[in-house]
Amino acid sequence: MVFYYKQGELPKKRHTVFTKDGKLVREEVFGINGFSGRYSLLYHLNPPTRIVRLEEWKDNSIQEWKSSGYRHHKLSTSKLRESNDAFLDRITLLFNEDTFISYVKTSEGESKVFYRNADFDEIYYVHEGEILFKSLFGEINVSQGDYLVVPRGSTYTFVFKKYSELLVVEGKQVELPKNYRNEYGQLVEGSFYYNRDIRLPTLRTYDEKGNYRLVIKTSNGFQFVELDTHPFDVVGWDGYLYPFALSVYDLEPITGKLHQPPTMYTTFTASNFVVCTFVPRLFDYHPQAVPISYYHNNVDADEMIFYSSGQFMSRRGISKGDITLHRGGHIHGPQPGAVELSLNKRGTYNDEVAVMVETQKRLKVSLYAKEIDDPSYPLSWYNY
Ligand SMILES: [Fe+2]
Repeated sequence: MVFYYKQGELPKKRHTVFTKDGKLVREEVFGINGFSGRYSLLYHLNPPTRIVRLEEWKDNSIQEWKSSGYRHHKLSTSKLRESNDAFLDRITLLFNEDTFISYVKTSEGESKVFYRNADFDEIYYVHEGEILFKSLFGEINVSQGDYLVVPRGSTYTFVFKKYSELLVVEGKQVELPKNYRNEYGQLVEGSFYYNRDIRLPTLRTYDEKGNYRLVIKTSNGFQFVELDTHPFDVVGWDGYLYPFALSVYDLEPITGKLHQPPTMYTTFTASNFVVCTFVPRLFDYHPQAVPISYYHNNVDADEMIFYSSGQFMSRRGISKGDITLHRGGHIHGPQPGAVELSLNKRGTYNDEVAVMVETQKRLKVSLYAKEIDDPSYPLSWYNY
């Protein structure tokens, strides 16, 4: 959950007549999980139900790389092509029924369409770039190291101020971890970040008429519709459901005398997966500590890591922008020589930034991933 927030003009009471310049303002209850989940009340200049034309349906079923075997993978996003659009042409690399993990490279420019993801909340991690996120809730500037969390059903678009690269994680029930929140929703002492670190949208209202294209995404395709009023016609809203940003550089890792598990770095929880962030921190400081990860075999989980910046102590042959997928049932951990190297680093500063998605169900590898896969990676603990 995110705390109560309001922007713009609101009527004194919900569900009552609200006029602006003599015109009736239209109220929308925007909510998830029925009428007992999180929601916001939005006040539109025009009825939000107006659609001029239902345009085409475009299939977007992701093709699985069925002969990839069951093994660890290393994917190099540096080999991916640029996307034509950050929403319509994101490249899905790993997926299952709970999540789609995709990558986008895009040049400077403004999106020509408005977006709405009907099925999944979206977590964008900005690996590189500067972006103005525009939505019916308002605008947020994001740049390198920012997460942008967009609740499913939100209408939004992007202005890319420069070349940008984004990791996109789609999932249901993306929330701030429950153990960070007290019964009032405030983030408790000792949690990974504080309410103040969460950056909220600033409302900007567009009272405009014209031709606008909106695309509604489901898990297997896109429905295009045409509108004749600007979708960001909201003059005010309040509630608990809205997009927000959080910088990985505002995260507050708790470092240990001995090695801490990834759970210490949980940033968001979601339905059947968690997102953790490895951020700059001090290495473990016990005089005999092994300051990097031990070998591990989390049988019930698949683990994707995106390596964003800094020095990745436990890995060899990993570049910025690479993705690894470590499979439950196969053992993984520090690569040869990494433990020995780490022993001189006790108590020193480590500048790595990496995003981890750990899923409870197996991830499928897409045919796009096949094109950027390093088939020698499973043997990298032997051949080095
Ligand atoms: Fe791991």
